[in-house]
This record gives sequence, structure tokens and C-alpha cells, in this order.
Amino acid sequence: MLNFVLKFTTLSVFNLVANGQEDGNLRLVDGSHSREGRLEIFHNGIWGGVCDDNFGYYDASVACRQLGFRCLSDVQFYTQGGYTSYIWMDDVGCNGLETSLNKCSHNGWGSHNCGTGENVGIRCFGGCEGDLWLVGGSSYGRLHIYHSGSWGTICDDAFGSADALVVCKQLQLRTTAVQFYTAGNGNGTIWLDDVACNGQENRLDYCNHIGWSVHNCGHHEDVGINCYGGYSFSEVNGNWGSWSDWTICSSSCDSGHQTRSRICNNPVPSPNGAYCNGKSFEVLNCSIARCTVNGNWGSWSDWTICSSSCDAGHQTRSRICNNPLPSSNGTYCNGKSFEVLNCSIARCTVNGNWGSWSDWTVCSSSCDSGHQTRSRLCNNPVPSSSGSYCNGKSFGVLNCSIARCAVDGSWGGWSKWSDCNATCDGGVQKRTRTCNNPYPSAGGSACSGMADQILICAESDCPVLGAWSEWGVWSLCSTSCGSGNRTRNRLCDNPPPSYGGEYCNGKTLDSDTCNTHECPINGNWGSWLDWTVCSSSCDSGYQTRARLCNSPMPSSNGAYCNGKSWEVLNCSTAMCTVNGNWGSWSDWTICSSSCDSGHQTRSRICNNPVPSSNGAYCYGKSFEVLNCSIARCIVDGSWGEWSKWSDCNATCDGGVQKRTRICNNPYPSAGGSACSGMADQILICAESHCPVIGAWSEWGVWSLCSASCGSGNRTRSRQCDNPLPSYGGAYCNGKTFDSDKCNTHECPTDNCLCFNGGKCVTSNDGKVVCDCIGQWTGEFCLESQCMTYDCGFGNCLVEPMNGTAQCVCGNKQPTYCTENDNGDRITKIKQQPISW
Ligand SMILES: *[C@@H]1O[C@H](CO)[C@@H](O)[C@H](O)[C@H]1NC(C)=O
Ligand SMILES: *[C@@H]1O[C@H](CO)[C@@H](O)[C@H](O)[C@H]1NC(C)=O
Ligand SMILES: *[C@@H]1O[C@H](CO)[C@@H](O)[C@H](O)[C@H]1NC(C)=O
Ligand SMILES: *[C@@H]1O[C@H](CO)[C@@H](O)[C@H](O)[C@H]1NC(C)=O
Ligand SMILES: *[C@@H]1O[C@H](CO)[C@@H](O)[C@H](O)[C@H]1NC(C)=O
Ligand SMILES: *[C@@H]1O[C@H](CO)[C@@H](O)[C@H](O)[C@H]1NC(C)=O
Ligand SMILES: *[C@@H]1O[C@H](CO)[C@@H](O)[C@H](O)[C@H]1NC(C)=O
Ligand SMILES: *[C@@H]1O[C@H](CO)[C@@H](O)[C@H](O)[C@H]1NC(C)=O
Ligand SMILES: *[C@@H]1O[C@H](CO)[C@@H](O)[C@H](O)[C@H]1NC(C)=O
Ligand SMILES: *[C@@H]1O[C@H](CO)[C@@H](O)[C@H](O)[C@H]1NC(C)=O
Ligand SMILES: *[C@@H]1O[C@H](CO)[C@@H](O)[C@H](O)[C@H]1NC(C)=O
Ligand SMILES: *[C@@H]1O[C@H](CO)[C@@H](O)[C@H](O)[C@H]1NC(C)=O
Repeated sequence: MLNFVLKFTTLSVFNLVANGQEDGNLRLVDGSHSREGRLEIFHNGIWGGVCDDNFGYYDASVACRQLGFRCLSDVQFYTQGGYTSYIWMDDVGCNGLETSLNKCSHNGWGSHNCGTGENVGIRCFGGCEGDLWLVGGSSYGRLHIYHSGSWGTICDDAFGSADALVVCKQLQLRTTAVQFYTAGNGNGTIWLDDVACNGQENRLDYCNHIGWSVHNCGHHEDVGINCYGGYSFSEVNGNWGSWSDWTICSSSCDSGHQTRSRICNNPVPSPNGAYCNGKSFEVLNCSIARCTVNGNWGSWSDWTICSSSCDAGHQTRSRICNNPLPSSNGTYCNGKSFEVLNCSIARCTVNGNWGSWSDWTVCSSSCDSGHQTRSRLCNNPVPSSSGSYCNGKSFGVLNCSIARCAVDGSWGGWSKWSDCNATCDGGVQKRTRTCNNPYPSAGGSACSGMADQILICAESDCPVLGAWSEWGVWSLCSTSCGSGNRTRNRLCDNPPPSYGGEYCNGKTLDSDTCNTHECPINGNWGSWLDWTVCSSSCDSGYQTRARLCNSPMPSSNGAYCNGKSWEVLNCSTAMCTVNGNWGSWSDWTICSSSCDSGHQTRSRICNNPVPSSNGAYCYGKSFEVLNCSIARCIVDGSWGEWSKWSDCNATCDGGVQKRTRICNNPYPSAGGSACSGMADQILICAESHCPVIGAWSEWGVWSLCSASCGSGNRTRSRQCDNPLPSYGGAYCNGKTFDSDKCNTHECPTDNCLCFNGGKCVTSNDGKVVCDCIGQWTGEFCLESQCMTYDCGFGNCLVEPMNGTAQCVCGNKQPTYCTENDNGDRITKIKQQPISW
């Protein structure tokens, strides 16, 4: 996170404040950068504007140069407007070579026909080495510096108040206070880093730094400056810097938050500017995981009311493990979730209640009706504390009877005579009486005498019906098989009919079939079937034939056929063919040689079985051979041929030639001896000296600089003796002497105007003059045409941007502006320079 500290320095300490503005001073106000804005001029102690009427290119050029923008590539002017208390100048007319705007012609101070809406604004483009530029507003913004032909930025590392002071001083903004800040967002090269001014320098490029374009920064670190003006505070609105990184989450579980912040420093608002709009920080919810929450008891409930309004009762209270509830593996609450308390408000009222009944007393009488009693006490419990007495009776009465008292029986009256119970063969009539007047009871005596009387009636005989006796035995069956006949008889004599009774009803004779089973049939053979084909086409085979017991089949327990139901016959045509097959391999023979290559064999015979009756012989080889090697045979090495001699490996100072041979004819092996003698031979060659090429020793030290400012010269030298050339070697290549520019910073100037890269320098006699380069010359460094040559009748016109001058020929007959062959008036250069 960028730890930004706003530096705000009051410059009075450094005595930089313009000690009053001088008449004719210029300033730019309300522009979008330090080279743009409304043009204001200081006159009679008051800043006023310049009217845009007839304001032109030359006027803008003079104003830009007066404002210190020396190397101009272009100027622009426009109507900016804005309030000024005065409009000091109107119809300004410069010729371009004036050193300040108030030297140009105009309508007179304060004499104008303009409104404030016509205030002119200008823009000055271009840059000299070391020039500064603020991008943002007329007196603040991101700092740019011009170096090596392009604008670039400056890193904020180690940038400080003294550096900011020098910037505002170099920009001639008549500053009373400075700020610096991290502006960022620049482009181009980052030209400077770790700038360290002491505050006395007049230009930032005079300050110490670690070298042009040497830095460890990005454009987000570009520094910005605010030069609070001595003439007015420019209104600078604040703008946010970039956001910091988010902080880490404030909690490792459940809801946490992260924040990030930014600072209103890009730029910092001026005292009269608006503060940044929007929030300086943001908060974000974050949650990595759920927190473990251990349960904790909620508060106790109120005690319940006493469970009883008298005597022993109890009260309870309870609590719940919900303050908080345990979650995410948190533990449950420790302790009891309820409590019980004994309570007693008063003694209870006790209502009486019956004790248990006593036993019944014995019955008051030994026969017929008596009674028994029982009683109980109101003592279970006895009523107390105003309790009510028992409800109900305290005794009970029961009728009882142990036995009936004894009563003797006595006869009631006779019933009527019943009807006669038969019409013939004799019947009877009855009458009865009952001992119920009264019944005898409880041991009383029964009635004495007959309870019923009988009379004989209907004494004549009844008629008798005839009835069958049992059937007689069956007669013999009429056949022994295939169904015969049999019969039996009965008589109507049991009893025979009499006294006019009827004869028996039904048959006297009965018949039935017998021996209904069929008569038996014995079996008999059918004829033989055909013989089967022989079971084998070679060697021993056989054939069979069969017959069936079906002519007829035996039935009804008849006997089966007698004899064999099939026959077998030997049959054979020829002997069978047998193919040969190999027996197993013999063991391998021992190796035929004890070193290098030998061999082993094994064999087998076609006898498993031997082929017969035109059968095929076995397929495959009857023996096998195997290479075998028990050890390598010993071989002694012997040299091959020598190679050719190699070329000499040097052309001078001595070299060598070589030839070699190899112990490969043959190579020694299996412990055989190596070759004896040398494997290579060497000859000495090229014994003459080599040439030595000369080489430079180190450069000597630099001479003193020829000037103290404005670019001087210094030199150094070296010797070709490291080594000296010899044996025909070449001399060193390059210069013995070297020169370099030094003290290139500009010499102090005093209102000096030089075009085209010329520099203001102080000459030996103390005058400030232009030091021109290239073909440029003269007081302002102008092209040498008409400024150094006479135009004759022509006018010399100077281009205010770069000092180029040329003769403009008029109508007059020219001396040096003459006509060409076409009659056009052209410039003719006189070859004789005039001196300035
Ligand atoms: C810097 O940015 C401006 C505006 O975008 C552009 O005109 C200018 O060429 C850029 N300069 C460089 C050196 O890139
Ligand atoms: C962040 O969490 C707080 C409290 O847990 C909640 O009130 C707020 O709405 C949340 N904000 C967002 C953006 O979810
Ligand atoms: C509770 O603990 C067990 C075992 O440590 C773990 O597997 C489980 O994910 C945990 N549950 C929660 C909600 O943290
Ligand atoms: C509450 O009463 C019960 C029975 O009446 C008794 O056993 C118990 O000890 C009493 N408890 C206390 C704390 O007095
Ligand atoms: C008991 O006997 C008396 C007289 O014999 C009779 O009036 C009464 O109703 C009897 N009570 C019961 C309950 O039978
Ligand atoms: C009639 O009654 C007498 C006496 O009970 C009895 O012996 C007799 O067999 C009865 N006669 C007939 C026909 O029932
Ligand atoms: C068996 O006897 C009966 C009665 O005499 C007669 O009808 C029947 O035809 C006889 N059957 C045979 C098979 O003689
Ligand atoms: C048929 O051959 C078998 C064996 O081959 C022999 O035992 C048997 O006696 C032979 N039968 C006849 C009838 O030749
Ligand atoms: C066995 O050795 C002979 C001669 O050394 C060679 O030609 C042959 O290929 C070898 N056989 C096998 C199977 O290696
Ligand atoms: C030539 O070869 C010899 C032996 O290998 C070596 O000592 C010598 O330095 C070589 N000379 C050059 C010039 O390479
Ligand atoms: C510096 O010295 C060199 C060598 O004497 C010379 O060529 C060059 O012109 C000098 N430059 C200046 C600016 O004096
Ligand atoms: C000087 O500026 C004028 C106008 O901008 C231009 O025409 C001329 O070529 C420039 N001369 C040089 C040498 O740059």
C-alpha cells in the first residue's frame, strides 16, 4: 500500500517568493497545463488581460519566450475569456524579435474596446534540454522534463520539498508554497529517479540524480507538483489516487470484512479547490468458514407457581442452551437445564373419609327371614382444618336366611281319567294327584297313599301281516370265466299273514352274473428283423438281429414267449492302418569343445507307435543341435598398421605432427596379453617465431575541462605498448588521443534571447552573448542570409519561431533584390557580409 504523505512547504523560508512583480511581467492562468492559459500582464501593480483583437503569431511567440519557453516548436493563440479586473493591452503588434511583450506596439495601457470575454489565451510548444512542464493546470500537475529530444516523467522515489521548490523556481511561477504528490499516468521515458536538490539550484537538471533514464519505477510513480502562486491561488480540485490493496479478512470464520482506501492526492486540492468526490474507503463482506460456536445457557425462566396450594408442593424453572445455540461442532452447554424447589403455602384442609366396613354380624334368625348389620368410622382420615364430615351412612342392614322352617306335604284333588291308549289287543286308562297342598319343605314329611290309578280297556285281537324270511344260499356259477349265472330263493313265513293281514310284497327268486373276468391268452414270437451293419470296417467287428413277442402279445395273465429275442454274429473285412508317432527326446550330449564354440545334440525314435498297414511315418526332425560355449578361448593382442602423419598443428613458434596405431589385429581377449610398444609417435615442426600485433594500454587520466560552464573540452591519451608490435606484427588500430565535452550545463543568462539551440554564455569581457551552433550566427543565432548580408532595397524578415531570416523584395528597383529572367522579383545574395 502506498504510504502517501503530503508534503506542503511554505517557501518564505527559502526566500523564493517574487519580491514583488515587475511591470510587464506575464503569467498564464486557468490553462490545462503550465504552457497554456489566459495571458495576463502586470502593470501599475495590477494583473490585467490582453485583448484578442489583432493578436497574432508573432505576439504569441514573444509572449512565450518572455515566459521562459525558449525552444519553441510552435505557438497557438485563442480567445479564452474569463474575468480580469483590467484589460491592459489591445491591438498588440510585435515583430517577433522583442524580448518582452510590453516592448511591442499597442493601443496604450488600458486603452481598448474589448470585454473580458475577449481575453486572449496562448499555448507554447517545444522544449529545450532540461525544460519542465506541468500537465494538469497552469501551475500544477504531473511533472515532465525534456531530455534528448523528448518529454518524459520523473519518479517520486526520494522526491522531496527541496526538489519541488527547484521545480517551481525553474518554472518561474513565483511560488509561495509547493506540494508534491504521486500523480501517475504519465507516458514517455521515465527520465529521472532519486532526484536530490539542495534547494539552491535554479534548474532541476543541476540537481544530483542517479543518471538519465536510470530508475526502478513505473509510470504509476510519476511525481506531480503544485506551485501555489504568488499572484493568486489557482483553484485546483482534488482527485483520488489509486485504491490500496484489500486488507486481509478481519475474521477467519463467519462474517468478516475487508477494506481498501484511497487518498485525495492526485492532485491534492488547493486551499480553495474542491475536495475529491466519493468515498475514501470501501468495505467488503468476507467469510472464510463458519465459526465454531460453543453453546451457552439462556437465562432461567421464572419459577412456576407452586404445584400445590397447601402442604408440600414444588416449583421448577428451566433454561435453554440457546445463548447461543452450539453450531459447527461447538460443545453443548454444561450443567442442568432445570431446577426444582420445595414449596409450602399453608396446611391443607382435610375432609373426612370412611374407614373400611366391619364384618357382618351373624343372622338374627336360624330359619326363614332374619337380618345382619355392619358399620364403619369416618377416620380415613378424620376430618381436620375445617374439612367436611364423611358423606353417607355409617352402618348397613341385610336380610338373611340360614334355612327354611320345616312344612309336612298334603294331597291335592284327582285329575280326570285319560283316553284308552289302544283299540285292540287290550289298553289302559289313568288318573293322577299331586302332593302340593302344601308341598312338603325344610324336612317336612311327604304325602302317604297312591299318586295315580289305572283301568283295563279294548280287549279284542288285532289282524297279522305276512313278512319275508332270509334269502337262501347262491347256486353254483354257470361258467368258470367270461361271465356266468347264479340264483337264490326266500319264503313269506316270518310270520305268515293271519287275522286278515296281507301277504308279503316282492320277489321270491333272485339272479346275478358271476366269473365275469376274461379268459387268459399266451404270447408268441414274431419273425426275425434284418441283421445290423458290421460295427467296424477293419479288424474285429460284429452284427446283431432281434425279434418281438407280439404275435400275439401275452394278455390276461397269459405266459410270455419262450426263447432269445436277439442274436450276435462276428464280422471282419481287413486289418486297420496305424500312423507313426515320436518317442521322447534323449538327453543332450556333452559340449563338443571346452572353449569358444562347440555343440550338443539329442535324438528321438518314431516308435510311439511304429507305423503299420500303410500308416504315415512321424513328422519332424529326429535330432537337434545346440551351440554351446563353456568359456572364451585366450587370444593375445597384436598391433594394426600405423595411421598417416597428421598436419603440423601450428605455423610458427613450434608445433607437432602425430601418427597412431591400434592393438586390434587382433584385439587381446579372455585374458590374452596386450600389445607391447608405443601406440603413437610425435615429430617437432614449424620452429620459426610468430609475428606480435601491437595492443593499447589503458587510457590516461582526463585533462582539466577547458570551460567551467556552457560546454568545454577535455582530452586523454594512451600508448601502443601492451604489447609493442614485433616480428612483423601490425601497429594498434584506433586513436591515441580522445576528447569529450564537459561542463555542458548552461552558463547563467540575463534576459538573453538565442534561437536555434544557441546558448547564452558570458564572454571573457563579462558580456552575455549567444554561443551559436552549425550555420547559425550573430546576436540571436540567426540564419546568415539577410541578417548578415544586405538586402539592398528588400526588407529582411525574421521568422520569430526559429530566427530564420530572408529578404522580402518590394516594388522598388532592387540593388540586391533583383529580377530574374521571368521578371519575378527575387533575392540576390550579396557575397560580402556586413558586420553587426
Ligand atoms: C503521451 O501521450 C500523449 C497523449 O496521449 C501523446 O500525444 C504523446 O505522443 C505521448 N508521448 C509519448 C512519448 O508517448
Ligand atoms: C455485510 O454484512 C452486513 C452484516 O453481516 C450486512 O448487514 C450487509 O448487508 C452485508 N453487505 C453486503 C454487501 O452483503
Ligand atoms: C465437525 O467435525 C468433523 C470431524 O472433525 C468434521 O468432519 C466435520 O466437517 C465438522 N463439521 C463442521 C460443521 O464443522
Ligand atoms: C423436598 O421434598 C421432598 C419430599 O417431600 C424431600 O424428599 C426432599 O428432600 C425435599 N428437598 C429439599 C431440598 O428440601
Ligand atoms: C327384608 O325383610 C322385610 C320383612 O320380611 C321386608 O319388608 C324387606 O323389604 C326386606 N328387605 C330386603 C332388602 O329384601
Ligand atoms: C297301554 O298302557 C299300558 C300301561 O301303561 C301298557 O302296558 C300297554 O302296552 C299300552 N298299550 C298300547 C297299545 O299302547
Ligand atoms: C341267467 O338266468 C336268468 C334267469 O333265469 C336268465 O334271464 C338269463 O338269461 C340267464 N343268463 C344266462 C347267461 O344264462
Ligand atoms: C467272435 O469273436 C470273439 C472275439 O473276437 C470270440 O471270442 C468268439 O468266440 C467269436 N464267436 C464266434 C461264433 O466265432
Ligand atoms: C551356431 O554356431 C554356428 C557357427 O558358429 C553359427 O553359424 C550358427 O548360426 C549358430 N547357431 C545358433 C542357433 O546360434
Ligand atoms: C600442438 O600439439 C601439442 C601436443 O598436443 C600441444 O602441446 C601444443 O600446444 C599444440 N600447439 C598448438 C598451437 O595448438
Ligand atoms: C575539443 O577538442 C577537440 C580536439 O582538440 C577539437 O576537435 C574540438 O573542436 C574541440 N571542441 C571544442 C568545443 O572546443
Ligand atoms: C523556421 O520556421 C518557418 C515557419 O515555421 C519554416 O518555414 C522554416 O522552414 C523554419 N526554418 C528552419 C531552418 O527550421
